[in-house]
Amino acid sequence: MTSIPHGGKLVDRFIPDHKVEEAREKAHSLPQVVLNSRQLSDFYMLAQGAFSPLEGFMVGRDYRSVVEEMRLADGTVWPLPVTLAVGREVARSLREGQEVALFSPEGSLVGLLELEEIYRYDKVEEARRVFLTDDPKHPGVAALYSQGEVLLGGRIWALGLDHGPFPQYYRTPRELREEIRRRGWRTVVGFQTRNPIHRAHEYIQKCALEVVEGLLIHPLAGETKADDIPLAVRLRCYEVLLQNYYPQNRVLLALFPAFMRYAGPREAVFHALCRKNYGCTHFIVGRDHAGVGRYYGPYDAQEIFRRFEPQELGIVPLFFDNAFYCRRCSSMATAKTCPHPEGERLDLSGTQVREMLRRGEPLPPEFTRPEVARALVEAAGVS
Ligand code: ADX
Repeated sequence: MTSIPHGGKLVDRFIPDHKVEEAREKAHSLPQVVLNSRQLSDFYMLAQGAFSPLEGFMVGRDYRSVVEEMRLADGTVWPLPVTLAVGREVARSLREGQEVALFSPEGSLVGLLELEEIYRYDKVEEARRVFLTDDPKHPGVAALYSQGEVLLGGRIWALGLDHGPFPQYYRTPRELREEIRRRGWRTVVGFQTRNPIHRAHEYIQKCALEVVEGLLIHPLAGETKADDIPLAVRLRCYEVLLQNYYPQNRVLLALFPAFMRYAGPREAVFHALCRKNYGCTHFIVGRDHAGVGRYYGPYDAQEIFRRFEPQELGIVPLFFDNAFYCRRCSSMATAKTCPHPEGERLDLSGTQVREMLRRGEPLPPEFTRPEVARALVEAAGVS
C-alpha cells in the first residue's frame, strides 16, 4: 500500500535556485501584499505541496464549491477554504492578471502571487457552512470575521522555505515520503495533535500501531488559541515520552506547520488529506478531533468521513472512541471495553489539566506519564 498525493502528484511551487535572483529583481516593481502569520503558514504549506493539489490561494469557483460541497470545482474532495483575504484598500490597488510580490509580516520578500481573481465573499455563510456556527466566540469564526473583506485567488511561487524555530523537526512532504521509503514502511498512520501528549493519545497511537507499520506523530506547529500549550513544551513532552515508552524504530516525530482552524469535522478531513500528502496511508481520528468548546458532537469528526467514497479520500481513517484510564481495570480503556461505572474513570480535559498546572497540582500518573508531567510542570514554572 503506497500513499499517492491527493489529486495525483505532489505540488512543488518553489522558484528554481537559478531563477531566484531574477524573481527578486522583478518583485521590486510589483505591487506588494504583506501576509499575516496565518496566511504565511498557508503560503508555505501550498509551496511544499502539503495542500496538494492546491497550487495557490483559491479562486472563486473553487472557494464556493469547497464551502458548499467540500469539493474543488473539479470534484476533488477538499473541505476547507484556503484563501488570501485583504482589506478593500489593498484590493483596490490591484488588478486581475497582475503578479503581486508577497511579504512576510516582518517585511521580507517570500514569493509571488499570479493574481487570477479578486472577489467578494460572505463571511457569515462561510462560518455557518465550514464551522457549523456563526458564533463570533468560536475561535475559527472570530478569525474569519476579523480578516479582510476581499479575497485574492491565484497560484503562488515561493523563493524558499522558512523552517521556523525547530528546524530539526521540520520535514516537507517530499522529505517525509523519502524517510518513510527509507524505513521500508508500507503503511503509516498519521497523528494530528495540538495538545501535550497524555495517556489517551499514547493509547490510541499504540492501538493503531497494531495494524500499521509506522507512526507519524505530527504535532501542529502553526498558530493555536492563546491558552493552548506552546509548541516548545509539547515537543519536550514528546521527546521524553518517545525516549521511554515507544518502539524507536516504528515512530517518526515531525512538525505540521499549519495553523489550527478549530473547524472540527471538516478540519478532520483536511488533516487527513494533508497527512496523505506527507506519505501517510492511515490517519487517527479520536474523540472531538479539532473541536473546541461544545460546538461539535464527540464523534461528528468521524461521521463526516462516511460522506465520501474511500477511493476519493485515498487515506484510511482509523476511528477511536473516547479513551480513559479505568481504576478498576487498572489500564486504559474505552466505554466499549470497560464494564465499570463512569465514576471509576480518570478522564481529564485539556482545560482541567491547564488549571491543575496553574495551581501547581501534580498530574496523576494514570493520566500523564511522570516524565511528561515533569516537563509540563517545569514549563509552567511551578515545581
Ligand atoms: S486536536 O485539536 O489536534 O484534535 P488533540 O491534540 O487533543 O486535539 O487530539 C489529537 C487526537 O487525539 C485527535 O484525533 C483527538 O480526537 C484524539 N483524542 C484526544 N483525546 C482523546 C481521548 N481521550 N480519547 C480518544 N481520542 C482522543
